[in-house]
Amino acid sequence: MLELHGIRKSFGKIEVLHGVDLEVRAGEVHALLGENGAGKSTLMKILAGILPPSEGEIRIEGQPQHFADYDAAIEAGIGIVFQEFSLVPYLDAVENMFLAREMKTRLGLLDRRAMRARAQEILARLDVGLPLGVPVARLSVAEQQFVEIAKALSLEARILVLDEPTATLTPSETEHLFKVMRELRRQGVAIIFISHHLEEIFEICDRITVLRDGEYIGSCEVAEVDNDRLVEMMVGRRIENSFPPKPAPRPEAPVVLDCEEVQLRRGGPVSRFQLREGEILGFAGLVGSGRTETALAMLGAYPAARCKVLVDGIETRFREPADGLAHGIGLLPESRKEQGLITSFPILQNVSLNNYGKYRSNRWFIDLDKELACTEAAMQSVRVKAPSAHARVDTLSGGNQQKVVIARWLNHDMKVLIFDEPTRGIDVGAKAEIYQLMRDFTAKGHSIIMISSELPEVVGMSDRVCVFRSGGIVATVEGTDINSGTIMTHATTGRIDHVA
Ligand SMILES: Nc1ncnc2c1ncn2[C@@H]1O[C@H](COP(=O)(O)OP(=O)(O)OP(=O)(O)O)[C@@H](O)[C@H]1O
Ligand SMILES: [Mg+2]
Repeated sequence: MLELHGIRKSFGKIEVLHGVDLEVRAGEVHALLGENGAGKSTLMKILAGILPPSEGEIRIEGQPQHFADYDAAIEAGIGIVFQEFSLVPYLDAVENMFLAREMKTRLGLLDRRAMRARAQEILARLDVGLPLGVPVARLSVAEQQFVEIAKALSLEARILVLDEPTATLTPSETEHLFKVMRELRRQGVAIIFISHHLEEIFEICDRITVLRDGEYIGSCEVAEVDNDRLVEMMVGRRIENSFPPKPAPRPEAPVVLDCEEVQLRRGGPVSRFQLREGEILGFAGLVGSGRTETALAMLGAYPAARCKVLVDGIETRFREPADGLAHGIGLLPESRKEQGLITSFPILQNVSLNNYGKYRSNRWFIDLDKELACTEAAMQSVRVKAPSAHARVDTLSGGNQQKVVIARWLNHDMKVLIFDEPTRGIDVGAKAEIYQLMRDFTAKGHSIIMISSELPEVVGMSDRVCVFRSGGIVATVEGTDINSGTIMTHATTGRIDHVA
């Protein structure tokens, strides 16, 4: 169905794709794998006509293609769901699906009824039900994803690219997506699937292609490889144990953050927990169970019915997140793009943000050399892949943008860091490094609250785990109770639906 041959791509003087091949058959799910910055999204943008290749050839069913723009690629049957969604938030699902390709009545007016009917037909084909009349901004991430897929299919895509679609989905939403993908595969669509979750590759994919640093490493059947081999192809070395050893429990360690009560809604559960010096406290639970909201409420960034928090034993009222900073508490938010980064700024300023006090050389001036040196050290510690500290954040790969946020917080002198989904979109190699950095941080006597939807991560990293259900903490587990079975039982009242 699709052949890419010898694709090269340079941005300015830097070549990021060095002659990549990719062959995808009709009716297969083909995984495109590689570390952060390997070139996966760039290759897909070339396929979509959004970026011109510097060299190389694209063929569809043997016919050479030259896409002048995205429209030309769509015309040729290519549909893409980007790593960063491209929906218009104020428009509803139908308006988004037919944006710039509106169906018209004979009088040239918008044929809303026909568009709605067509949208419903496509969503039915996907077996997806979602509200059509509301702005997509109000839909869940999973629903928005299905709108993107429906949009691609409304354009008769024969080749469908899904760039990290599962990064923001819950296990059951992912299962639903896989069902849709299997159905599309049966209908003969060629699907290119990008994900850093290797277990998903084994579940849904037929063949794989691996890139490393813009080089083509190879392609094969999924059945021919195992997990270790895949990692080795991607990273170029073996990764032994991604979780660093846990220190011995220290129940006598001083409490740095004492959450006496946080109640999100009147009548809802009341959360209580204590964060001790030098520990990683996991926040587990299903998506929507109130983990992020509780953390934000503590910092005064989310409305709560009741909230009483003690920092180092002193009752403290946070009116806004900046108060948290003043008390040495930092938050690495869930949606980096909107809340964690100024993407049109260089890495340098993003890492320095609200950290300038540290670089002041006197009352008026900032020591720019020190700023650069500190930033470069921070970038190195999380291995941000970028030409320099002056590169704009929006020219980085998704995973490297994530690392920039982590670099900022590790560069701050914080006592407590709240990591919300710390490794979302991060490749396997870098994950292990981030886990190590988190342990180094707590070994210095600092503390971490880690909100995570990835059970293996919760189990592998937490010294204790608070489990959330319907808006608050329902259990706190430690020791050998930190296992996926126990945690999921608390998270779901004993009904274990999806154990990752
Ligand atoms: N517009 C741009 N200008 C300069 N460099 C860019 C631009 N877009 C991408 N790059 C660089 O190209 C390389 C490949 O990036 P790409 O986004 O394709 O990676 P990826 O494999 O999708 O990674 P991830 O898993 O993190 O999403 C990166 O080093 C990135 O910094
Ligand atoms: Mg990418």
